[in-house]
Amino acid sequence: MAAARRPSVIWLPFQECTGCTESITRSHSPSIEGMIFDMISLDYQETLMAAAGHQAEEARANAMKDNYGKYVLIVDGSIPLAQNGAYSCIGGRSNVDLLKEAAAGAAAIVAMGTCASFGGIPKANPNPTGAVSVADLIKDKPIVNVPGCPPIPVVMTGVLAHYLTFGSLPELDDKGRPKAFYGDTIHDRCYRRPFYDQGKFAKTFDDEGARMGWCLFELGCKGPVTHNACATVKWNGGTSWPVESGHGCIGCSEPDFWDGGGFYKAL
Ligand code: SF4
Ligand code: F3S
Repeated sequence: MAAARRPSVIWLPFQECTGCTESITRSHSPSIEGMIFDMISLDYQETLMAAAGHQAEEARANAMKDNYGKYVLIVDGSIPLAQNGAYSCIGGRSNVDLLKEAAAGAAAIVAMGTCASFGGIPKANPNPTGAVSVADLIKDKPIVNVPGCPPIPVVMTGVLAHYLTFGSLPELDDKGRPKAFYGDTIHDRCYRRPFYDQGKFAKTFDDEGARMGWCLFELGCKGPVTHNACATVKWNGGTSWPVESGHGCIGCSEPDFWDGGGFYKAL
């Protein structure tokens, strides 16, 4: 009896820091190992695959040919358009060239992380490489944005599991993000919210208010304008998340957050 073939997944890395790959390896439910062994055929992922060089490129080409029209394309990193895309190439080919080729045969595209979803840090002012997002370039395929710098591990695998289970993308918000994970703001679900409502704010990171767990809004928390699941799903297997660790949200799952005032500036 012929073995059933698991759906092919091709992961292309562009202008990225590998944080998204690091993050997905921490997913516990489903885990990346569980997905690779039971749910998907991860046919190209430069960091995780054993192959390198020409062998890796051949695996990508074969996977695209054998699964044309059916594979899931994951992209992390933004795509540079300046200098004809010369700022980021793989095997001598520009990211934009590779993306257009792989997108043509994809059933759906997952833009993993804020760079692929919205441009991320490469697009930050003055955007020297002319970085753009996947959705800026590809208009004829279903695309789901899974932003975060990096995204939450179980959100990454959860979105993939949804697609593999139902054969369609989950319901998306106006920025292409799954509503199940990005439907509420951090502020909507933050456990410090009662202090915000009472007007109790930490003024410095080591004052009495900070020690009492008061709201971090006056220390720059971007929770009120940031859509993500950190306050409910948390990080590190549900251990904690930025606000619980004592620092405000810096808005990492929103477009242009690098220029949005979430970081400290030298005086
Ligand atoms: Fe809202 Fe941030 Fe205060 Fe939490 S710490 S209640 S997210 S402003
Ligand atoms: Fe990012 Fe804010 Fe969560 S900075 S990790 S969305 S708490």
